[in-house]
Amino acid sequence: MKILIIGANGHIGKIITPILEQRHKVTTAGRNSGEVSVDISSSASLENLFAQIGAIDAIVCAAGDSVTGDLFSMTDEKYFVGLQQKLLAQINLVIVGLKHMNDNGSFTLISGKMGENPAKGSSGKAVTNGAVNSFVIAAALEMPRGIRINVISPSKITDITAENLIKGYLKSIETSVNGEIIRIGYH
Ligand SMILES: NC(=O)c1ccc[n+]([C@@H]2O[C@H](COP(=O)([O-])OP(=O)(O)OC[C@H]3O[C@@H](n4cnc5c(N)ncnc54)[C@H](OP(=O)(O)O)[C@@H]3O)[C@@H](O)[C@H]2O)c1
Repeated sequence: MKILIIGANGHIGKIITPILEQRHKVTTAGRNSGEVSVDISSSASLENLFAQIGAIDAIVCAAGDSVTGDLFSMTDEKYFVGLQQKLLAQINLVIVGLKHMNDNGSFTLISGKMGENPAKGSSGKAVTNGAVNSFVIAAALEMPRGIRINVISPSKITDITAENLIKGYLKSIETSVNGEIIRIGYH
């Protein structure tokens, strides 16, 4: 399979990329890292990326910022970081990516445990991750041409094993699951 990994150089990306490279033909991308440059919050930047790499069988996103802070220190601007950089950026990736996705391909987005199982001070992450999960469940109902979409929702990577994280990614990319929140390190 020809796979695009956004954020391959990040903490999660560095765990999954070498394994996916052993099994598939991988292209890595990031704003300032990876083989190809892209900012997923920009449709123009995404179109420019696909013009360079062509059609693809799987897109994996391990990128997207959000802000933590106790409830009373949070502001519109702080919430907006996650909504813009993680939620809307990944939605953008799916909307633009669909045009370049081969039949029966897959998207694997990223959310995080705080979307379903928050701790104090995590409302910025919670609203962002919860919305990414909701987007995936809804978008899966409308994916055309046998294309699938799932989301990996990990606990903090220091609390999980690389093996479980990789297993989750392989489930999304290599099996037939669709519209699944793949929880890593919690239930
Ligand atoms: N680490 C954890 O414990 C953990 C747990 C649960 C969920 N998550 C989620 O997993 C995702 C990745 O986390 P991480 O810890 O691996 O982050 P990270 O170490 O900061 O890595 C993020 C990667 O994404 C790229 N990136 C960021 N914004 C981008 C954009 N707009 N367009 C293209 N590339 C972009 C960055 O590269 P450039 O700087 O070159 O763009 C970097 O390679 C985040 O959404 C995070 O919330 C992380």
